[in-house]
Amino acid sequence: MRESPSRARIAPESAPYTVRRSREQMLSDVREGLSATAKQLSPKYFYDERGSELFEEITQLPEYYLTRAERVLLEQKIDGIIVAVRPCSLVELGAGSATKTRIIIDAMHERGCAECYVPIDVSRDFLEATAKQLEADYPDMRVMPVVSDITEPFSLPPTVGPTLVAFLGSTIGNFSKEESIALLSHISASMAASDRLLLGADLVKDPKILERAYNDSQGVTAEFNLNLLRRLNRELNANFPLTDFEHRAFYSSEQRRIEMHLVARRQLTVTIPEIGEIHFERGESIRTEVSYKYDRATLEEILRVSGLSMESWMPADDASFALLLARAES
Ligand code: AVJ
Repeated sequence: MRESPSRARIAPESAPYTVRRSREQMLSDVREGLSATAKQLSPKYFYDERGSELFEEITQLPEYYLTRAERVLLEQKIDGIIVAVRPCSLVELGAGSATKTRIIIDAMHERGCAECYVPIDVSRDFLEATAKQLEADYPDMRVMPVVSDITEPFSLPPTVGPTLVAFLGSTIGNFSKEESIALLSHISASMAASDRLLLGADLVKDPKILERAYNDSQGVTAEFNLNLLRRLNRELNANFPLTDFEHRAFYSSEQRRIEMHLVARRQLTVTIPEIGEIHFERGESIRTEVSYKYDRATLEEILRVSGLSMESWMPADDASFALLLARAES
């Protein structure tokens, strides 16, 4: 028998604690990232309210093929995946757009089991909105949101198995190999024999196509990148002059990754009251994101080292993107 039908909620009394903690976390990340010789900031800070809107706009750009490719694949493959895994619960890491989630939950529903949905995201507001919507649309499903930064170890509520753990959108691309292995090992350790990981990853391809995806003609990606400084100005009282920074994105064939930077157009000094003065030479940059591109062998290797094994490999027809299913090694 299942426990009480009352729905799990995000404890409201923990909210101020989380906000304080996350501001302190942000402050220490920014302090560390901007005092390094090669300045950098974590891409997780892109997603304030405006940043999330801008990302949503990016996913609709003609040059940004990733989201479309993954959605088409998911629509093609989801029935086969659900039939093979027969999941009753869905755990979604870095819960993204509701569209993807719905494709999965609808398919689970159709095949008879959609008991729990556990979205995991750093943004409490985002999670609350998602949880409310999904609870309204799927009244028989328990929605158990977890506010957590997936770059740190997190704990999962107990779910009704089998559980499908979805990590989509090539979010894994933001993680170095070591970071990916740490995250995937943590996930694999919590997976039962019948659970499966569903991973979406962007693939190595013609650098021109990759560079176009991160240098769109409408300048939305540039706006998304610069919004990070706007956020630091607002939340940390920094004084970054936005017009003195320029968006730059390029592909490194050696590292197999896109790098996004914000480049200072002139020599300047920025002040962040709780951190101090930060000096920029003309042409000096802050690296704001890395976005790794994969091939099948590299992903298989990362999975293996993380205690997982690939069960099915589902590349797009044009080989631009891939979904894969993996299980924990017993
Ligand atoms: C959300 C990390 C998959 O790397 O393509 C889009 C973010 N950055 N345009 C990516 C992003 C610039 C995106 N991920």
